[in-house]
Amino acid sequence: MVSLHIVIQLALIALVAGSGTTPHIREIFLGRCWAYQEVIKPQHLHSDVKNCELLWDMFVTAFSNKGPCDVTSQEYAPFMSQASQEIARNKAMFWSGTYQIAHQFAENGKRFVTLEDTLIGYIVNSVTWCGDNAGINYMYCPPWYECAEAGTAFWGSASSEFASSARGNITIVLDGSRDGKPAYSKDSYFAKFELPALRLPDVTRVNILLVHDIDKPRREMCDNGSLLSLQDDIAARGLKSTCVDDPDTVIHLMCVDDPESRECQLVHKMAHNSQQKEAILNARPKRSVVNKFDRLHRNMHPF
Ligand SMILES: *[C@@H]1O[C@H](CO)[C@@H](O)[C@H](O)[C@H]1NC(C)=O
Ligand SMILES: *[C@@H]1O[C@H](CO)[C@@H](O)[C@H](O)[C@H]1NC(C)=O
Repeated sequence: MVSLHIVIQLALIALVAGSGTTPHIREIFLGRCWAYQEVIKPQHLHSDVKNCELLWDMFVTAFSNKGPCDVTSQEYAPFMSQASQEIARNKAMFWSGTYQIAHQFAENGKRFVTLEDTLIGYIVNSVTWCGDNAGINYMYCPPWYECAEAGTAFWGSASSEFASSARGNITIVLDGSRDGKPAYSKDSYFAKFELPALRLPDVTRVNILLVHDIDKPRREMCDNGSLLSLQDDIAARGLKSTCVDDPDTVIHLMCVDDPESRECQLVHKMAHNSQQKEAILNARPKRSVVNKFDRLHRNMHPF
């Protein structure tokens, strides 16, 4: 009777949470892995051709046949080092709370390379997985916050691996108009896994791009709020930084999605006059641009 209750409860949890391991995960993994290497071949990433079957074995060994919360970053280490790539100089781009605008700007690795453009990120982006005592659990995977360490075991290691492959100037894209959350937080992946993993003196500078939703208040700017503690943390790490509020290139990109908005038309006309642009952006009319950029999120990935 008790076990029946547990079964019903588990079934309910599964129904509410909605997801176990993504079906066909092996086929997705292998298909993406080979497509990445044989078809996509991103230009700013370099490595020998990796054996995808071997990568799959290393990946699945890390989490299968154990409880979903019993995985640590150590278990993913062989997979990470086998899948690791070199990132071209000045191309690494980090992001926090800016998934969509950062990826649009990076243009699938053409302009910049994000973690999701690397083999590791590409293979498992938006895929869910976890194990149980019988192998892989296709019924239910707990949300990341329910098992603290296992929740960051994969994406924490992937983030560190990515940061340790960066060279030259690196770029980070942050959102200065988040509601109730600072643009930079000490709990972010950048603070916890990426900044500490940067290799000096191969990395020389951190370029911060602070983006604001065109119609939301500009809560934080390069010279106030959490951006100051970010710049302190970067300096404490022994690196120089620059910070730009609403770089023209990013604003233009955001306006591609919302060209009719008054401020985008004005910004377009007056892009050469930065004081006027500033005035227009501060006037802040009512249309959402960055909002829809943050709907996508990775499972088990607390950005
Ligand atoms: C790094 O960034 C700085 C400032 O943005 C720039 O002056 C410099 O040329 C860049 N270095 C490289 C290697 O691109
Ligand atoms: C930062 O500066 C902007 C513009 O001057 C201002 O609107 C905002 O309230 C400031 N934020 C903080 C946290 O001081």
